Amino acid sequence: MKFTVAIDGPAAAGKGTIAKAVAAHFGFAHLDTGLLYRAVGVLSQGDDPVKVARALSPDDLQRDDLRSAAAAELASKVAPNLDVRAALLTFQRDFARREGGAVLDGRDIGTVICPDAEVKLFVTASAEVRAKRRLAEFGPDASFNEVLADVLARDKRDAERSAAPMKPAQDALLLDTSNLSIDAAVTEAVANITKALEGRR
Ligand code: DC
Repeated sequence: MKFTVAIDGPAAAGKGTIAKAVAAHFGFAHLDTGLLYRAVGVLSQGDDPVKVARALSPDDLQRDDLRSAAAAELASKVAPNLDVRAALLTFQRDFARREGGAVLDGRDIGTVICPDAEVKLFVTASAEVRAKRRLAEFGPDASFNEVLADVLARDKRDAERSAAPMKPAQDALLLDTSNLSIDAAVTEAVANITKALEGRR
């Protein structure tokens, strides 16, 4: 069975957690597509990012330095590059149509990578709520105003770039986790996917 769940949204809205939970629930494979851009960013310091993107292998996604703030910064520099995005397209589409179902999370999955995905979710939360979540990860030394400014700057960059900007697909279900626990958001996502799966039987 081929079945694609596309989950998009800004950083720290909860899309990664929701993607992992629904993949585990349905036994689908999960791809965090941000890791592709992070790996290209990290591996292309001083090198051509397009060349690196074309040569990227699944093993590169296992690097243990991809979750850092530095990797996020490097990723956001290569992500607007159309040739980098084109080089990563086939890998993502092949992953999405693998047997057994797939969940992909990112910024442009429902709009560009998998416009025909069976289920599309756009997970969001207010900038303040996302900054608070980030602050909890960074520890007490970080300043709320600095983290909030960083969240707003990243949103602006992701949403305003001309190459595959972050935006909800027209047929995406919006999940606002500002006042919704992650458990409740996962329950809503699971219900939506279950309905789509039943509609195919
Ligand atoms: O979700 P993340 O923080 O791992 O994303 C890292 C960067 O990559 C961020 O600047 C957005 C970008 N990205 C993208 O342009 N398209 C995707 N499908 C996923 C991430």
